[in-house]
Amino acid sequence: MSSIKKIGVFTSGGDAPGMNACIRAIVRTGIYHNIEMVGVIQGYQGMIDNNFIDMNSRSVSNILHLGGTILKTARCLEFKTEEGIQKAYDHVKAKGIDALIAIGGDGTATGAERFSKTFGIPVICVPGTIDNDLYGSDFTLGFDTANNTVIQAIDKIRDTADSHDRLFFIEVMGRDSGCIALRSGIAGGAEAILLPEKETGIDELIEKLETGAKNKKSSSIVIIAEGDKNGGAYDVARRVKEKFDYYDTKVTILGHLQRGGSPSSFDRILASRLGYAAVNALLEGQTRKMVGLRGNAIVTTPLEEALNQKEFKLEQDLLDMAIILAI
Ligand code: F6P
Repeated sequence: MSSIKKIGVFTSGGDAPGMNACIRAIVRTGIYHNIEMVGVIQGYQGMIDNNFIDMNSRSVSNILHLGGTILKTARCLEFKTEEGIQKAYDHVKAKGIDALIAIGGDGTATGAERFSKTFGIPVICVPGTIDNDLYGSDFTLGFDTANNTVIQAIDKIRDTADSHDRLFFIEVMGRDSGCIALRSGIAGGAEAILLPEKETGIDELIEKLETGAKNKKSSSIVIIAEGDKNGGAYDVARRVKEKFDYYDTKVTILGHLQRGGSPSSFDRILASRLGYAAVNALLEGQTRKMVGLRGNAIVTTPLEEALNQKEFKLEQDLLDMAIILAI
């Protein structure tokens, strides 16, 4: 029997499609086990501001399909200070919350680990970020939906690129991770993919584009991860154009549209499984863990391990294949 009577749930950092489906799963699993459920509005900021909302199974009706997060989110600098974290704990304690579930990326997990270690409150994290850059889960919530959004954009740009015989540079999100760039580049049939995990020099890129032109490609698309070391898409486009002006060149930065939208079936199911598993992990007495997906199994990884290990998620075999398929 668990001594947990009241669980607080929150989303933090960048929102990701699937967060609402996960909140729903957490709230309903908790209620099924007769636990009181509390939503923290705006993540760590809400703890500091004493912004809580009592939740029941109807509070999460009709949100499964919605992008964003009904609990709001924030990047909270104050939580990193001694005063901020103490204030957050005082409010959490006063609300009677005796365990927390955090949905977010590495900043969220870092905050959760520190909070739990400092005050001894049990915490489980759910990896929720479009970047897919967390150790302990093959996929993070929102990554699949973001990829689908990017692919739709690439398809549309290809129509116009092909009609005008143009070269397009498309910049995608991911912070320091090239996961979105690689997957969307393959699915969108990009001629080249520039990633932070694998440097591609401008001359090497030009060589690829020249080969494409020689092979009678009338248009081309280059996907650039925002963390690529060559700089952003505008910089790359300018430097390519200086030496290779075969094509008329255009740049598109996809930006925050990659973060929104209704979650894909994959993300809804992943969110449901991870939310359900997070509550069960707390009830089993687990703490300072991240729930994740490995193969088709739900696993837990100690937060400390998840935060200290950088997962090299870039699959080299996919990159090698992408190069061959783009000839
Ligand atoms: O972590 C998700 C993400 O969308 C990154 O891909 C991007 O670098 C960052 O957040 C943008 O953050 P913000 O919305 O705070 O500008």
